[in-house]
Amino acid sequence: MNTHVVILAAGKGTRMKSARAKVLHQVAGQPMIEHVLATAATLEPRSTVVVVGHQADSLKAALAGSPGLSFVVQEPQLGTAHALLTTESALRGQTGTLVLLSGDVPLLSAKTLQSLVDRHTSAGAAATVVTAVVDAPFGYGRIVRSSTESGEQIARIVEEKDATPDERQICEINSGIYAFALDGLFDAVRSIAAENAQNEYYLPDLVQIYRQLGRPVETVTVSNPDEIKGINSRIELAAVSRIVRDRKNAELMAAGVTIEDPATAYIDRDVSIGADTILHPGVSLEGRTTIGAGCEIHSGVRIVNSQIGDRVQVFNHSVITDSLVADEVNIGPFAHLRSHADIRARARVGNFVELKKTVLGAGSKSMHLAYLGDGIIGEKVNIGAGVITCNYDGVNKHTTVIEDGAFVGSDSQLIAPVTVGKGAYIGTGTTVRADVPAGALAVSGGKQRNIEGWVEKKAEVRSKK
Ligand code: UD1
Ligand code: CA
Repeated sequence: MNTHVVILAAGKGTRMKSARAKVLHQVAGQPMIEHVLATAATLEPRSTVVVVGHQADSLKAALAGSPGLSFVVQEPQLGTAHALLTTESALRGQTGTLVLLSGDVPLLSAKTLQSLVDRHTSAGAAATVVTAVVDAPFGYGRIVRSSTESGEQIARIVEEKDATPDERQICEINSGIYAFALDGLFDAVRSIAAENAQNEYYLPDLVQIYRQLGRPVETVTVSNPDEIKGINSRIELAAVSRIVRDRKNAELMAAGVTIEDPATAYIDRDVSIGADTILHPGVSLEGRTTIGAGCEIHSGVRIVNSQIGDRVQVFNHSVITDSLVADEVNIGPFAHLRSHADIRARARVGNFVELKKTVLGAGSKSMHLAYLGDGIIGEKVNIGAGVITCNYDGVNKHTTVIEDGAFVGSDSQLIAPVTVGKGAYIGTGTTVRADVPAGALAVSGGKQRNIEGWVEKKAEVRSKK
C-alpha cells in the first residue's frame, strides 16, 4: 500500500501546565507519542513525518532512536490545518493515502487504523474521518451530518468553541484521526480560513470544503470510544494510563495470572508473565520484564527490565532492576538486585541484601544484611549476615571470587580483588585481604583479651571526679 503517515505534535499543550512537551508525558510507562508511533508502524508506511514546534528540540532528541522518522518544524503554530501544510514539501510528489494522527491520541488500535485505510481506499474517498459516539462529547469537534439520498452523510465538523447550543448536543465526535487522498490535498488545505473562535486554521474544515467541491468524504466510527481519547490535561493523562493498564491486566488474567488487586497493579505493556503466577497488591513490573510461571510477587515489589524464572518468590518491598533470577529462587523481603545481578537456581537472597553485578551460584544463600558487588559466587556458598565485598578502592572496581561450597562467616569483609577457594571457611569478623586456598580456614584480628573487673574500675574512676 502506498501510505504515508503524518503525526501532529507541535501544539503547546497549555492545559498540561508543564515544562515538558505534552507528547513526551508517559502513558503507562511510555511516552504518549511512542504509543502512536508503534500503532502507525503497523501500517508499514512509506514515510512517517512528525510535525514539531513547541519544545521541538527535546522532542526530536527523545525520538532520535526511532527509525524512519522525519521531522518538520511548524513555527508559529497556527492550527491543525497549518500544521499539515508544513509537511507539503516533505511529501512533494507522493501519491496514495496520507494517514493523519495526533500525538496526543495514544490508544487508537492497529485494527481501527487498518479499517480506516481499508474503508478510505475501498470507498475511493477524498477524506475519511474516524469518529466515535460518546456520552461526554465536551471539548471535541462534533460531526454534523445531513440527509442525502444515500443516507446521513457527514456535512462538516464544528469545534466546541464555535458550536451552537444545538450542535453541542451532538454526541458523535471527531477523533482528529483521518485518511486523505494526497491528490489535491494541500491545495484544498490552503483554502481553509481562520475565521473562528480561536483564529486558528482548523483541519476539520476540510470536510465542508470537500463536500462543497463534491469530493466524497467518509467516516469510520469506532465501537470503543476509549480508543480515541485525547490527552489535554493531567487528569486525562491518568485516565488514559488507567485504560492501558486495565487492558494489560485483563490480558494477563485471561492468560492465567492472578492479580489480587488490579487497581494497584502497574504492569507495562511489554511485560510478560507465566500462568499461575500471583501478584499481590501494589506491584510495579516495568520495561522489558519477564516473569515465569508459578511465581508469587508480594506487595510493594518493583521489578524493572529483569528476567525472573519459574516458581520464584519475591517477598515484600524488594527492588530488582536489570537482573536475572533463575527458577525456584527466593528474594527478599527488602532485597535489592541491580546492574546485572545474576541469581542462579534455588539460591536465596534475604532481608536487606544488595547485589550488584554479581553472580550468586545455584543453591547459594545470602540471607541477611550483605553487600555483594562485582562478585562471582559459586554454588552452595553460604554468605553470613553483614558480609561486605569491598569492591571499590576509590578509583577502580575489583572482583571477588568465592568458589563452590565456601562459607563466609558473618561480618566479614572481602577486600577485592580476592579469591576464596572451594570449600574454604572464613571465620566470623575476618578481613580477607589475600586469597584463601581451597579447604583453608581464614581468620584475622588478634587474639581476644578479657580485662577482668574493668566495669567496676571504670565506675570508681568516675565517682572520684
Ligand atoms: C482537535 C480537533 C477536534 C478533535 C480533537 C480530537 C482541530 C481544530 N480540532 O481538537 O475536532 O475532536 O482534536 O482530539 O483540529 N497541533 C499542531 N499544531 C498546531 C495545533 C495543534 O501540531 O498548530 C497538534 C497538537 O500538538 C495535537 C494535535 O495537533 O497533537 C491536536 O491539537 P489540539 O490543540 O490538541 O486540538 P484539540 O483542541 O484537541
Ligand atoms: Ca487534543
